[in-house]
Amino acid sequence: MAKECMEINLLSGALGAEIGGISLKDTSIENHKKINDLLLEHKVIFFRDQNISPEEQIKLASCFGPVEKHVYVKGRKEYPEIIRIIKEPDEKNQWGENWHSDVSYNPKPTKAVILKSIKIPPVGGDTVFSNMELAWETLDQDIKDKIKDKKAIHSSLGAAFFVNDYKAMEGNGNYDEYSNEHPIVRTHPETGKKILFVNWTYTKKIVGMEKNESDEILYKIFKHQERLDLTCRFRWTTNAVAIWDNRSVNHYAIADFFPGRGLGYERIMDRIAIEGDKPN
Ligand code: SIN
Repeated sequence: MAKECMEINLLSGALGAEIGGISLKDTSIENHKKINDLLLEHKVIFFRDQNISPEEQIKLASCFGPVEKHVYVKGRKEYPEIIRIIKEPDEKNQWGENWHSDVSYNPKPTKAVILKSIKIPPVGGDTVFSNMELAWETLDQDIKDKIKDKKAIHSSLGAAFFVNDYKAMEGNGNYDEYSNEHPIVRTHPETGKKILFVNWTYTKKIVGMEKNESDEILYKIFKHQERLDLTCRFRWTTNAVAIWDNRSVNHYAIADFFPGRGLGYERIMDRIAIEGDKPN
C-alpha cells in the first residue's frame, strides 16, 4: 500500500494550516503526536473529507485528554459528548458569532476543540481565528506594561445567552452564571509561550483597576485582537474538521446569513471540547 504523504498549506501568515495526507480515523500514538505537533505549531488545523463517525470523533478527542461537558448546552442524545450546533434556515443568529475563547469563564477553560461540519451552506458561515500569541507580541508597549501582571474577570452571562437566541440549541437546565479571574497574559503549558488571554465576549473587567480605565484598556485590546493580520479564515465544506488550540486563539463564527436577502441556509456542526487546565 502506498504511504500517504503529509501536505501542509498555510491559511495566512498569522496562523492556521490545512493538512492533507493524515487520516483522523488513525488514533495511534504516532499519529496523535503528529497532529498535536501541528496544532501547537499552527494553533488551528483543518482537514477536509474526513468522514469520521461520532464514535471516531470522540476517540480522536480523547487522545488530547478528557472530554469536557458544556455547562449549559445539552449534548446529542446518543452522544452526550457532542454538541450539535444548528443554525436553522430562517435564523440570522449563529452560535459562536462573536470573538471569544470557549468557556473562558470556567476555572479551567477548554484546552482544544474538534469541530466537524455536517451541513454547510453554499455561501457564508466561515469561521475566523486570531492568534493570541502574536497579539501579545504585537501589543502596544504601554498597554503591555499596564496589564502584564494583572488578572481579568471572565463571566458566562448565564444560560440564556447560549440557548435563547438560537432556536435549535437546547439547554441542560443550568441557569447559573459563572465568573472567574484569569491572568491576562497566560503561559502556554506545552510551548511556554506568552498568550493574551482575554476576549470580547466573556472578559468583563481588569482586576484592581477603576472601571473606566479597565473599559478603555480592554476596548483597545479587543480592537487589537481582531486585527486582520493576526487572523485566518476557513471556508467550510462538508466533512471538514477543525482542531483549534483554545488556549492560544480566539475565534468568531461569521453569521453572514440574511434570510430576507435569500441567504437563509441551514448550517450544522458537531463540536467536542477537551478539558483544559487553570491558566497560569
Ligand atoms: C464555536 O464558537 O464554538 C463554533 C464555531 C463555528 O460554528 O464555526
